[in-house]
Amino acid sequence: MSNPTHNENTSSIEAVNRCVNKRISTRIAQVPLASFIFNASGPRCTEEDELNLLGASASAAIMTKSCTLEPREGNAEPRYQALPLGSIQSMGLHNLGYKAYLEMLPRLKQAISPQADKPIVVSVSGFSLADNLTMVKAFQASCADLIEVNFSCPNIEGKAQVGYDFEQTERALEQLCQLGSKPIGLKLPPYFDFSHFITMANIIKKFPVSFITCINSVGNTLVIDPETESAIIKPKGGFGGLCGDYIKPIGLANVRAFSQLLPSSIDIIGVGGIKTGTDAFEYLLAGASAVQVATCFEKEGIECFDRIAKELDSIMAAKQYSSIAAAKGKLKMI
Ligand code: DHB
Repeated sequence: MSNPTHNENTSSIEAVNRCVNKRISTRIAQVPLASFIFNASGPRCTEEDELNLLGASASAAIMTKSCTLEPREGNAEPRYQALPLGSIQSMGLHNLGYKAYLEMLPRLKQAISPQADKPIVVSVSGFSLADNLTMVKAFQASCADLIEVNFSCPNIEGKAQVGYDFEQTERALEQLCQLGSKPIGLKLPPYFDFSHFITMANIIKKFPVSFITCINSVGNTLVIDPETESAIIKPKGGFGGLCGDYIKPIGLANVRAFSQLLPSSIDIIGVGGIKTGTDAFEYLLAGASAVQVATCFEKEGIECFDRIAKELDSIMAAKQYSSIAAAKGKLKMI
């Protein structure tokens, strides 16, 4: 009789080994990753079977959907629409509730280790500081490897994005960074002005933040179907987060700006419009230590991680870069 656990482990080892390649291996907050590319907290990472699939894939980590205190169904449908160059979404934090992820973590770990250790990154997105404190405290005592606190979900009616409120961000970090020794990172919204890059960087520098993830979707955008004369998604009067190719230049700029403003000890994870090895390479030049993939993963499925990793590896080989460190932040000015 076939043993599903054994099969999962075998495929996991194979997938990770395919990617164990010195040229594109990296570290986030000193935690080793077999490749530069993993999933973003977004599509296909809410359910246990989806997270197991990530464990058995070439994704360099298993990243969970942002969780809340209680389980949520998310926003009304239609809440996601693919667009020619990306997508617009207002999912509304559909997730199983943080306790379900806490309970699931040892099973996920068990399925991927010890043959192929792959970090698990949990994403938390509470509706208040109290919610985030409860969840981060619990995950500090779990087998998660990294904790990403989402300060930038644009899709909850009546809840502003924390990352656009600098005082609230500072007050939150004062408390969130005191709950344990696991590395904490922040998922930030896109910023569009140098004064905002500088203000946020100065806040981050005051605390032991280990990494930042730039950028979340560009919030509160509107796509209209001229045929039907209506918005193309239902929640929030049609306003939703814009993702994919449309936002890559914004993501690159945010990664570049923060890499110039923060000490190199704070890793930057790039997100926004990564669907090829070339996109990943551009984020590397801008200063990213790793990248996350959302829209392309939604559209292409689990194979995207292996494909993008191979493409990045070929580009690095052709350019004679022997490691991520050799190319990181090496953007040239003209
Ligand atoms: C959702 C969207 C986001 O951009 C995010 O960071 C977290 C959650 C959502 O709508 O589910």
